[in-house]
Amino acid sequence: MTTLITNIGELVTNDPEADDPLGIVEQAALLIDGRTIAWVGRADEAPAADQQVDAGGRAVLPGFVDSHSHLVFAGDRAPEFAARMAGEPYAAGGIRTTVAATRAATDEQLTAHVARLVQEMRRQGTTTVEIKSGYGLTVHDEARSLAVARQFTEETTFLGAHVVPDGDADEYVALVTGPMLEAAAPHARWVDAFCETGAFDADQARTVLGAGVAAGLRPRLHANQLGHGPGVRLAAELGLTAVDHCTYLTDDDVAALRDSGTIATLLPGVEFSTRQPYPDARSLLDAGVAIALASDCNPGSCFTSSMPLCIALAVREMGMTPAEAVAAATAGGAAALGRDDVGALVPGRRADLVVLDAPTHVHLAYRPGVPLVAQTWVEGRPA
Ligand code: NIG
Ligand code: FE
Repeated sequence: MTTLITNIGELVTNDPEADDPLGIVEQAALLIDGRTIAWVGRADEAPAADQQVDAGGRAVLPGFVDSHSHLVFAGDRAPEFAARMAGEPYAAGGIRTTVAATRAATDEQLTAHVARLVQEMRRQGTTTVEIKSGYGLTVHDEARSLAVARQFTEETTFLGAHVVPDGDADEYVALVTGPMLEAAAPHARWVDAFCETGAFDADQARTVLGAGVAAGLRPRLHANQLGHGPGVRLAAELGLTAVDHCTYLTDDDVAALRDSGTIATLLPGVEFSTRQPYPDARSLLDAGVAIALASDCNPGSCFTSSMPLCIALAVREMGMTPAEAVAAATAGGAAALGRDDVGALVPGRRADLVVLDAPTHVHLAYRPGVPLVAQTWVEGRPA
């Protein structure tokens, strides 16, 4: 079954072969065969199809690839947010509030909650989402958090090293790298650690990632979110595909990322929701570091599921152009997840796309807070 989406005013393809960074085709059409893109080009040159959809001159983009979220949790931390907006600082310790609520929830409650958040993401144009554990912090609760996440995505991340729930940190790292990893690994693709004051130091993070890699997982890291520290340099040294947050960077950190080719995944919703300074995306880009944008949707530091909000913040607050921000939220997220089947609308890729109620991608930043996503298509079908 083939479907031609035609009368597309502006098609963002992210074609790596194109002259402009977004690979824009105007007055375009796109042919879907089953779950994948079969052809893209000018509408007046489009091939015949079994059915045709008129985009009405609107913009069509690759679906957003949200490479960083923490959707498996229970409970609510609105009072903590309100206290922060009244002057309290954000600290890693708040995670333990969510851990208690998550342990108390049933599998059915956790699954229903993730389903609701994934649906919320779909309505805002996200077609690929990574989901972490990290609010269980026991062997049983981490494994079941990942089993819940796996129902919604292949991109699951074991984050047993989120904080030390109680007791001795080194004993907890031994648990994380031993029985917890063994129970978690069958449900996970990635292993992550929160390398930060109040969470895990560089040696502990290195130990956790090393054990995860030995168990067949791919490493990633939360680093330099709350202050300067060794996390970003560790990520570069280990040659990670991506390192997430990168809010506080020295010139040496930026040089290390450039030299290792590690993608900086920036999460501007966190700075918005914690009143911290935004990362300096402009100097990263100018230094030649690739950027991904993601939501970090979680109940503590950033409870938004909206990639359009992240794009608007990246443009307004982090010095990115609308084109750079849209690329970072699509192709950038795909690269951060090591995926070559999503993030671009070119033949052979998954037909994951967004139809905007707007003529161009610029409107995502130009019209902040406006629900511009008219349709989200996942694997060739409206979701
Ligand atoms: O990415 N940095 C660590 N984890 C989350 C926040 C977790 C929480 O506050 O519940 C983050 O910001
Ligand atoms: Fe996070």
